[in-house]
Amino acid sequence: NCDDFVSYKVEWKKVRRLGHTKQLLTVNGQYPGPTIAVHEGDTVRIKVNNCMNENTTIHWHGVKQLRTGWADGPAYITQCPIRAGESYTYKFSVNDQRGTLWWHAHYSWQRASVHGAFIIYPRMPYPFSSSPIEAEIPILFGEWWNGDVEEVENEMLKHGGGPNVSDAYTINGLPGPLYPSSTIDTFISTVERGKTYLLRVINAALNNELFFAIANHTLTVVEVDAAYTKPFNTTAIMIAPGQTTTLLLNTDQVPEHSQMFPMTITPYVTSIFPFNNSTSIGFLRYNSTKIKKFSSKVPENLPEMKDTAFATAFLNKLRSLGSPMYPCNVPKTVHKRVVITISLNLQDCPSGKSCQGLNGKSFFASMNNQSFVRPALSILESHYRNTATKTYSSDFPEKPPKVYDYTGVNPLTYNMNAKFGTRVLEVAYGTDLEIVFQGTSFLNVENHPIHVHGHNFFVVGRGFGNFNVARDPAKYNLVDPPERNTVAVSTGGWAAIRIRANNPGAWFIHCHLEGHTSWGLAMGLIVRNGVGESKSLLPPPKDL
Ligand code: C2O
Ligand code: CU
Repeated sequence: NCDDFVSYKVEWKKVRRLGHTKQLLTVNGQYPGPTIAVHEGDTVRIKVNNCMNENTTIHWHGVKQLRTGWADGPAYITQCPIRAGESYTYKFSVNDQRGTLWWHAHYSWQRASVHGAFIIYPRMPYPFSSSPIEAEIPILFGEWWNGDVEEVENEMLKHGGGPNVSDAYTINGLPGPLYPSSTIDTFISTVERGKTYLLRVINAALNNELFFAIANHTLTVVEVDAAYTKPFNTTAIMIAPGQTTTLLLNTDQVPEHSQMFPMTITPYVTSIFPFNNSTSIGFLRYNSTKIKKFSSKVPENLPEMKDTAFATAFLNKLRSLGSPMYPCNVPKTVHKRVVITISLNLQDCPSGKSCQGLNGKSFFASMNNQSFVRPALSILESHYRNTATKTYSSDFPEKPPKVYDYTGVNPLTYNMNAKFGTRVLEVAYGTDLEIVFQGTSFLNVENHPIHVHGHNFFVVGRGFGNFNVARDPAKYNLVDPPERNTVAVSTGGWAAIRIRANNPGAWFIHCHLEGHTSWGLAMGLIVRNGVGESKSLLPPPKDL
């Protein structure tokens, strides 16, 4: 019953942006959806009522879900979708983590509008020194399509070409004055002069990494992906889809008469739109300032598109806090190293169809040349009930099928035909696992933000070109590497992560660019039960 006890009511609602009114998927009538704020150690219980005409699921991005994989949410990985008119209660605890996370639908492209902030307040005071925090401000970046988002996805899959780009980027659901008919839909954050604010920044965009800056203001990074960092100052940030960044902002400016400070996002990489068309502006307004006309001036401290030097320098500054209270538990040695190539592939177009990929072929994407196919039953359930053979196979390759120069001009032949299937990497409880993600350069103009469910990991190394096992591991940061749940793997470069696989269950690993996941840039990770109840997956809830 949708009007009964409602935590989340997922439903269609009319929403107007850019002068277009359309039916949008919303949660409790809101876009972006409601902010969930809990305390470290809380047990969370959220009933999701599906009040629309299609399937859905909700994922709590970055919540570790220790032993509660049933509440993780990705469709066909940890549960079958919640059908129209049905409900499911997500129940889990948030232990041993704190900070800015988010939640989003994990079924087709619904997360375009079904998403919101998920904030875990810490048990202990914030470890960064600052004046008292005046207020905490969630800031979500997103994308708006005038058309129906699922049609965009279906078109893309049908034609075997790239997705239609969105019509606007949004800040807290608002495109801002650079877009036509959009001045009324502008995000304004009102602050008081001489205070300190905590900005909880979330990139919920479907397909773009973004730069973010506020004119005249310096930002202090204190946390990424709900793990504290050594604080550092920056003029702008780079944030990939799936990632979160918590910032301190000192309102230390003296605004001139009617001056508001633009806060702006622009894509790190896009090959399609002209600059202004893809830039969203909101404003930081000191409460003494009257709202007059919006300026359309982009802050000077906003990096230009394709500023890889800025993006790389920014990522290299991220370090775990590594304090006695919050030690950095990076595995110093590992039991297993797995090397995984990330590729876009071209496949032959099914006969009788015409495909819009390169040379009339169809696009797919893969990891170690395995293009992920969603099973018909959830992997977690098959794993739990020992019916794996019907659903998936545990033969995901631990190294690339072919080793070649990934930065070469034309690795095309190597990227031709991926294998389709539902393959997972299966490891024993407690395995210290290193995964090296190797981006191959073919057609990859953007980074791949690779997200791991069920675990945080440490980014111990990054580099451009080919990963070299004889040379690169010696240079890893095993002292204070950043702890994350989503890592941006550079185009034609690599990133090495270390995971302590101590969360029994079945977990999705995938690119957080929605288009790439649809093409199959994903895999499963199964962590077997350890010895004893505390190292075992809990039984499924009754309403699964
Ligand atoms: Cu935020 Cu599997 O995703
Ligand atoms: Cu990708």
